[in-house]
Amino acid sequence: METLVVDHPLVAHKLTTLRDVRTDSPTFRRLADELVTLLAYEATRDVRVSAVTVETPLTPAQGVRLSRPAPIVVPILRAGLGMLDGMMRLLPTAEVGFLGMIRNEETLEASTYATRLPEDLSGRQCYVLDPMLATGGTLAAAIQYLFDRGAEDVTALCLLAAPEGLAHLDGMFQGSSRPIRVVTAGLDECLNDQGYILPGLGDAGDRLYGVV
Ligand code: URA
Repeated sequence: METLVVDHPLVAHKLTTLRDVRTDSPTFRRLADELVTLLAYEATRDVRVSAVTVETPLTPAQGVRLSRPAPIVVPILRAGLGMLDGMMRLLPTAEVGFLGMIRNEETLEASTYATRLPEDLSGRQCYVLDPMLATGGTLAAAIQYLFDRGAEDVTALCLLAAPEGLAHLDGMFQGSSRPIRVVTAGLDECLNDQGYILPGLGDAGDRLYGVV
């Protein structure tokens, strides 16, 4: 598994304001959206393209277009929805599938409550949107779900990651022949005993959408 912590002053600036407890939900949503677009630029470095020729007003020119089948973007409900527009801004022709997953706050185990994805993901590049990579249970279950349907590779975009979550994914997918990448704006210190990332930014879903 490959992990990329995006090191850029704009990413650090936006992440700092996301962490700030005084940031209200409208500002949090806007900054998360902008931050994801910056992460998406790095996360799509290996997106497949095919060579094409276009006519400029003067002469033919060699270029590339995104290959078919289109990549598939998979926000994990609910907090991953706050990352969708920022991702689609850079990949407007991607398809979107949905995975509803929730973690039990006592056992920290992830369970799936809704799915809307093609049965057959053979040959597809998948981009999973999950803002907080904490214990890694939810993301590991999502990646396994996509691989079970034939996904070719999975890149996860996370606002923040904890070392425990990355270690969990490494252990789960050790020896996997299919590439996994995690692209994040920050690698934090640890988890607290409720499974929250420290220093973190709190509950990403609550900060995006309120406590419901
Ligand atoms: N989910 C969140 O929203 N925040 C955390 O810190 C951990 C999991």
